[in-house]
Amino acid sequence: MSVTEKAAIQTTAAPTTGARGAGIKLAGVEQRYGDPKSSVLALTDVNLEIGKGEFLVLLGPSGCGKTTLMRIIAGLLKSTSGKVEIDGQPLWNGNRRNDKVMEELGVVFQDANMFPWLTIEDNIALPLKLRGVSKTERRKRASELCELVGIKGFEKRWPRELSGGMRQRAAIARALSCKPQILLMDEPFGALDAMTREQMNLELQRIWMESGCTVVLVTHSIREAVFLADRVLLLSPRPGRMDTLKTIEIARPRSAYDQSTPEFQAYELELRKRLDTFA
Ligand SMILES: Nc1ncnc2c1ncn2[C@@H]1O[C@H](COP(=O)(O)OP(=O)(O)OP(=O)(O)O)[C@@H](O)[C@H]1O
Ligand SMILES: [Mg+2]
Repeated sequence: MSVTEKAAIQTTAAPTTGARGAGIKLAGVEQRYGDPKSSVLALTDVNLEIGKGEFLVLLGPSGCGKTTLMRIIAGLLKSTSGKVEIDGQPLWNGNRRNDKVMEELGVVFQDANMFPWLTIEDNIALPLKLRGVSKTERRKRASELCELVGIKGFEKRWPRELSGGMRQRAAIARALSCKPQILLMDEPFGALDAMTREQMNLELQRIWMESGCTVVLVTHSIREAVFLADRVLLLSPRPGRMDTLKTIEIARPRSAYDQSTPEFQAYELELRKRLDTFA
């Protein structure tokens, strides 16, 4: 990468469409795994501000540290160096996780991870139950969420009775149940077929625009990244560093047809070429 390209890496928050989500600040984030003598540097020098309501997509070769960075933002892993702040509040005070800040976060991973012995409604409302919300209120909220993610009418079904795409919708509903300011998604549609995945991208864009939350999503699909992102952060191979931060200036809401425009394809090509240099 040239010096000018490096200078073009913009590390401040981009203007965004929503305003309700929380901002995320990463400063000097670094992650080493293993004991100090034989440790592996997985991620280094991550300095980034993600704006309130922004949709940020993380892209990069396998093993570059995307999941590591997601686990750090989710408070599931305390980075070996650096700081994470959510709306100006540190995620960690020393070795103690800030539980108040954790309440702002909803997380969706690749497998929907529904509990098979709970109905869809009870799965979705589980985080609310853990917070002592009454049964009547839980039912009401689960019903609203099923409507939001497009699985209305399936509240009383068992997870095994739903398709993979529907289970993934339920997982998104569960992550949204406590009205998080931030939704973190690590390859949420990786296991879905191409058509369902495209449909889910459209739905996710709608859900994001309606909920106004900040989204950080990991994908291996360049197309998915360009379709969904306000900005795409491309990480270099291990140790993962911020390589390219690209603002996608395609108007919202984006439709499936936008993917055939020269503008869309130019973004795709630029990211693909950069990724190819890592191979
Ligand atoms: N718990 C762990 N202990 C030791 N090393 C780990 C651990 N988790 C991840 N790593 C290493 O850190 C690096 C980054 O892993 P990570 O899972 O974050 O990559 P990724 O970008 O999510 O990859 P993929 O695209 O394949 O999901 C890899 O080299 C991996 O082997
Ligand atoms: Mg991963």
